[in-house]
Amino acid sequence: MSEKKNSLEHIAIIMDGNGRWAQKRNLPRAAGHKKGAEVVKEIAQEANKRGIKFLTLYAFSTENWNRPKDEVDTLMGLLRQYLKSDFSELQKNNIRIRVIGERNMLDKDIVAQIAKLENDTEQNTGMVLCLAISYGGRHEIVNAAKKIAALVKKGDMSESDVDIKLFSDMLYTQDMPDPDLLIRTSGEQRISNFLLWQVAYAELFFSSTLWPDFTAQELDEIIENFGSRERRYGKV
Ligand code: IPE
Ligand code: IPE
Ligand code: MG
Repeated sequence: MSEKKNSLEHIAIIMDGNGRWAQKRNLPRAAGHKKGAEVVKEIAQEANKRGIKFLTLYAFSTENWNRPKDEVDTLMGLLRQYLKSDFSELQKNNIRIRVIGERNMLDKDIVAQIAKLENDTEQNTGMVLCLAISYGGRHEIVNAAKKIAALVKKGDMSESDVDIKLFSDMLYTQDMPDPDLLIRTSGEQRISNFLLWQVAYAELFFSSTLWPDFTAQELDEIIENFGSRERRYGKV
């Protein structure tokens, strides 16, 4: 048997369990979100250290807009704070920031801050830290279909040009490889509208750890587990 480990370029994580983490400590849900935000940079540094090229983190879904207003406000406040926080450590490590999702649903100042961060780190050649904010996989796919329809209607493209590669290029994740590994924390075993198209052949890993308790060490263990999996892609 071959000893060769699977190559791992792209990890995607559904960071779930902030609310339950707080509840267990009799704290408001906001405290869980705050702690959860702190874990993000630690995990990004670890993934970068491990030579991962893309790390995509699900921070806020299109469905999360349906939470009570005070929780949405808390999350947007934390996001604002996070986007304005000190990124010098990430810069030093050559990390590039990228954001995917429905930007038109976000406040203008947040959109501007995202554009600034993307711009400031554009020249970095290290790991891409891709934040999924106001992101929904179905929205992304519908938007791609609309873009294609418009191009065909304009006569810039014909129906026969549409294939898997072209469709992929119309998604927010254009020019990113598909995730090799999808991790979800908190024990829930579902996709919750995350990267629906892109996870077609991702290896799934469900951890019972609540996101605020997730550590670099656990990430290493999951990477180790991934290495020993057999990826068949429908072949024998
Ligand atoms: C994940 O934690 C963060 C977001 C979805 C924004 P949750 O807020 O979903 O925490 P639980 O699932 O209620 O514990
Ligand atoms: C998914 O978690 C979204 C994020 C982690 C950002 P949710 O907590 O919103 O998902 P459901 O509602 O349990 O499916
Ligand atoms: Mg949740």
